[in-house]
Amino acid sequence: MQNLHNVNAARISIEKKIQILPDCIGVVLGTGLGSWAENLGGVSIPYAEIEGFPVSTVQSHKGELRIAEVEGRQVAVMSGRFHLYEGHTPDIAALGIRTLGALGVEKTVITNAAGALNVQFDAGGLMCITDHINFTGMSPLTGANVDGWGDRFPDMTEVWSKRLIELAMHQAQEHQMHLERGVYVQVLGPQLETPAETRMLKRLGADAVGMSTVVEAIAAHHMGMELLGISCLTNKNLPDCMAQTSLDDVISQARQSAGALATLLNSVIPQM
Ligand code: HPA
Repeated sequence: MQNLHNVNAARISIEKKIQILPDCIGVVLGTGLGSWAENLGGVSIPYAEIEGFPVSTVQSHKGELRIAEVEGRQVAVMSGRFHLYEGHTPDIAALGIRTLGALGVEKTVITNAAGALNVQFDAGGLMCITDHINFTGMSPLTGANVDGWGDRFPDMTEVWSKRLIELAMHQAQEHQMHLERGVYVQVLGPQLETPAETRMLKRLGADAVGMSTVVEAIAAHHMGMELLGISCLTNKNLPDCMAQTSLDDVISQARQSAGALATLLNSVIPQM
């Protein structure tokens, strides 16, 4: 479903509070990654005050939109997202990024916490998303198409902007940071993967697995938004010696990667 009604309601309630500039950069922050936004200052709008937004049920997500500046560039940061595993429909999972698009945001960085599938990637590292696999069985584009947003059958050959991938890789190098590159697969969750599922996802060509991002990216790309995706690899999934993972482990590892993510965001955003 494509939820024009909720997106318009959200857009109007944000526009009443703050002006979004034409070159504003959108940012979606994943589990445990909210600290960067809190240090930015600016103005924050709790999701509860945005019409059409449900209240996030995930405790590790703050649930606010923060409008601030990074080196003079306006940013609109969604701290907290709506997941399919919370029982939300794909249009609600995409509501935050659709609202950014409706506000005129043309470029967005989507971040997430993810499990590494590629044996060469380490927990604690960052991965720049080069492509994705939608393994949710759902799409935010089903139902009547909102022609003002995009095409009925949008092309998906370059959802993740090559230009922004190059920029992120360059900035990582400038800061002597290691930034992996790879394919992200979104699963429905909320359960983590079995060893057999991990083996399957690796064989499908995924390098990292998580429970967000792809549904948002499809909706954003439908609207013509240019996207950069960064995964914080919070755990390593090796099918033949699976280590148990809990949400607490994911959050604490994501918090440890937040510093490196902040360095990357602070250097990439002004040049987007
Ligand atoms: N699987 C799915 N989602 C995740 C994982 C994982 O291993 N780690 C963080 N989010």
